Amino acid sequence: MKEDTLLVHAGRDPERNHGIVNPPLYRASTILYPTLAEFANRAARKYTGFSYGIHGTPTTFALAEALAGLSGGHRALVTSSGLSAISLALTAFLRQGDHVLVADTVYGPTRAFCRQVLSRFGVETTFYDPTIGGRIAGLIRANTRVVYVESPGSQTFEVQDVPAIAQATHARGALVMMDNTWATPLYFRAFDHGVDVEIQAGTKYIAGHSDLLLGVIVAKDEPTFRTLKDGTAAFGDCVAPDVCALALRGLRTLHIRLRHHERSALTIARWLQRRPEVQRVIHPALPEDPGHALWRRDFRGACGLFGVILKTASLPAVAALVDGLRWFKIGASWGGFESLVTNPDPRDNRSATPWAETGTLLRLNIGLEAVEDLTADLEEGFARLNAAL
Ligand SMILES: Cc1ncc(COP(=O)(O)O)c(C=O)c1O
Repeated sequence: MKEDTLLVHAGRDPERNHGIVNPPLYRASTILYPTLAEFANRAARKYTGFSYGIHGTPTTFALAEALAGLSGGHRALVTSSGLSAISLALTAFLRQGDHVLVADTVYGPTRAFCRQVLSRFGVETTFYDPTIGGRIAGLIRANTRVVYVESPGSQTFEVQDVPAIAQATHARGALVMMDNTWATPLYFRAFDHGVDVEIQAGTKYIAGHSDLLLGVIVAKDEPTFRTLKDGTAAFGDCVAPDVCALALRGLRTLHIRLRHHERSALTIARWLQRRPEVQRVIHPALPEDPGHALWRRDFRGACGLFGVILKTASLPAVAALVDGLRWFKIGASWGGFESLVTNPDPRDNRSATPWAETGTLLRLNIGLEAVEDLTADLEEGFARLNAAL
């Protein structure tokens, strides 16, 4: 079955549901048991059955099944946000005295979780240069349990050599976790590249409509899934049925939206490359990008999120550009149908790989508007920028 077909059909079974196309939406806390003996044995339902609302309903299971199928993984867990998926997955595998290697360019709150929370529980984090590839072997210690990858990196889009990292990591008995939100499983097949635990902020492209928060953790096999389930159940994190139903709705059109985002973003990236105000466009699908060769080798496509470095460092001039934009709105998150812009400062978030660029970095999330409108908006923005310089 091709992925487009899988996206349309996964996680639903109209024949078992009166012919109704979408899975029913179950609201549940209490789940009833026919006998005291079955109630006493409820732990037996832990991995596959229904025991209490927090541990899943047919609605959560439908979403998890569809997401595991999409990733080509074994089974999935859904969580209340992308960040909770990250913190729960790390916590499930790490113990006091362990060491974790984390890419220096990870999503800022992932870094904060390692530094502020894991450290309190006796887990040491080393942030590594995301371009390290197989040389990561030199950083792996006897107590390194997890190597955490995010590719491309947050804000600065460094592409990681995931197969080389996975090979070195597995040779030392540790496991590879990856935040695969940027590419989604459609454009990066994490499990084919040696990843053991795939994480996604379903909030972004899976949801696709900026109206929900969702995390996804996919395990490569049953033992990995059970470690995740055991480790996460204690936290009481769960996803409401309405959110699952909305996420399933988003999932059905992921492939269509992503192709559109990809095409528009590349068109705008190339347009920006030709602008005299621009120092560099950071987009792994551009041949000039330092991560392009790896991206071409390992990825099947690109999403709508990329960076552009403006030559000017003048905040008032950049504000004149950004504040007056009509279609690009200022806001966190990405992956929705609408275009967004922010001005992250990578210096806030790096230790192993200092940010040496001059100018101003803008992060663009290209939505589903017409490219002509978006470039016209930016063109007027550049006129305001130049007038303010
Ligand atoms: C790469 C990446 N991973 C994870 C997250 C966290 O997702 P959420 O906002 O659902 O917590 C984000 C959010 O921006 C992100 O950019």
